[in-house]
Amino acid sequence: MCGIVGYIGRGNTKKIILQGLKTLEYRGYDSSGIALISKGNIVVEKKAGRIEKLEESIAGKDYPSDIGIGHTRWATHGVPSDKNSHPHYSMDKSVAVVHNGIIENYQNLRKELVGKGFIFSSDTDTEVISQLIQDMYNGDILDTVEKVIKRLEGSYAIGVIHKDHPNELICAREHSPLVIGIGNGENFIASDVSALLKYTKDVYYLEDGDIATLKIGSVEIFDRDKKTVSREKKHIEWSLEQATKCGYPHFMLKEIFEQPQVIKETFEKRVHNKKIDFSDILTYEEIKNINKIYIVACGTAYHAGLQGQFAFQKIAKLEVFTDVASEFRYSDPFIDEKTMVIFVSQSGETSDTLAALKEAKTKKALTVAITNVVGSTISREAHKVIYTMAGPEIAVASTKAYTTQITIFYLFSLYIGKLKGVISDEKYQEYLSDIENILEKVQKVINNHEKIKFIAEYLKDKTNGFFIGRGLDYKIALEASLKMKEVSYIHTEAFASGELKHGTIALIESGTPVIVIATQKNLLDKSVSNIKEVKARGAYIITVGFENDENLKEVSDSFISLPLCDDLFSGFLSIIPLQLLSYYTSSLKGIDVDKPRNLAKSVTVE
Ligand code: M6R
Repeated sequence: MCGIVGYIGRGNTKKIILQGLKTLEYRGYDSSGIALISKGNIVVEKKAGRIEKLEESIAGKDYPSDIGIGHTRWATHGVPSDKNSHPHYSMDKSVAVVHNGIIENYQNLRKELVGKGFIFSSDTDTEVISQLIQDMYNGDILDTVEKVIKRLEGSYAIGVIHKDHPNELICAREHSPLVIGIGNGENFIASDVSALLKYTKDVYYLEDGDIATLKIGSVEIFDRDKKTVSREKKHIEWSLEQATKCGYPHFMLKEIFEQPQVIKETFEKRVHNKKIDFSDILTYEEIKNINKIYIVACGTAYHAGLQGQFAFQKIAKLEVFTDVASEFRYSDPFIDEKTMVIFVSQSGETSDTLAALKEAKTKKALTVAITNVVGSTISREAHKVIYTMAGPEIAVASTKAYTTQITIFYLFSLYIGKLKGVISDEKYQEYLSDIENILEKVQKVINNHEKIKFIAEYLKDKTNGFFIGRGLDYKIALEASLKMKEVSYIHTEAFASGELKHGTIALIESGTPVIVIATQKNLLDKSVSNIKEVKARGAYIITVGFENDENLKEVSDSFISLPLCDDLFSGFLSIIPLQLLSYYTSSLKGIDVDKPRNLAKSVTVE
């Protein structure tokens, strides 16, 4: 999705903004642009395509400037083109605006402005904002923007500069994330903290309705009633190295390789002296009041939720429902004050998840967020928040966020199971050390990555395939299939192994790759039968299973072995080679792995 960077300080503005935009590339974009106040005027430079194109077009142009705004656009209104890229000037070029979100009443506003003689130069909704600022300008840019945003319906994070106010950078947010970075003699705005890590780690997260004015040495924030407000200053622990490739060819590979470490950190944050502690989230009294759990999320986070459901049911013996966030609100879920609804979101900004969270709150449920981003909107909206320790996840394809989310789910299930008394002390300790031991095993699976490259060689020329599994393995199949689709563009489908024969088996023909996940001991024989069914129709079988499973090896054309573990926890291991398989297939196909087509890292529209 779109990205915003803004700067006010002493010189170097062009460089700082371009660098910030580059760190936001991972969010997905199709054009970029920059606006600077230079020598008394606003200059806007923008280009469709990669940021390099923008850089080329302004290389050598000298724009001395202390204030500017930049943007990476992911088209919604109007095709990706130079003219539709942000920033957008007002007609008289006194104002420039960058905007994330959607202005829902832009057509009416545009008609009104056209009626007044304004000429528009783009097809975007955003341009109404810069034109309105020109139209309503009263000499005070903060006051003008305050009045303008009252006329906007929809969602926005905006950065605004005015040529007559070279000492003032204005920004505002409504349903779209925006942070202010606090520097020394300089200040910043960004839609995502990773754009600021090089310059500062101290930030204010704006809240809905906030508007702020940044000067070189000060930041003032006002709420929607024009009252000065102080937002809590947050210190971001993420390092710049975590947000850079550190020698890896792609972020996705780096993030897959980081998993043993980040799972360990997530584990250690919650486990002390062999005891799991979530007392900040749920006490015994609170858990007694809960009779139902919902888990709600999108994409990969939803798949982590499916594993969470499995863990809650198996370990804590709780009734759990899992739903995709975009459906949750419309399914009339049976929730009340006795329901705990857990929202899973790496970014903490996904609109569908946020909307579902608001719905659950109106129904008085206890809401808990599992997220990776401190201070994100979802973390602030939920009653309670559990942070994963994945660190910045830059690749569009989510990997380490997923495994840290499932770490949380297993620990949380064990914690609740113990509180409820449905699990013995002995079992509790056994499971806890099983999870601890998983870390080393994840590393072992990663060490085997060379073998996965061979299988990727086979897959890269295929156009379709299947992932199948039973029980927990089916949930892994869903995630593995999503990963393969999003980064390799190979159409795959995930099926419960037993379901394939009820229709879809018609698609199996000679050479169709069928990737089988088979770790659930009580289901192994049935999995072998399912393999035979598709093999008999010509499928090429790639199996992920435990290293000692000779029956599986025998029926497979290619076998990826996992170190032994209790099959309750096998999801930690089986997903790793499948993440690697997607990665290698994508890179062998020459795809831009970290930024696959049509996708955005953080999906901030419903
Ligand atoms: O930031 P979130 O976890 O809320 O994002 C949810 C999905 O958009 C995300 O997991 C998406 O499915 C990933 N691209 C998958 O790799």
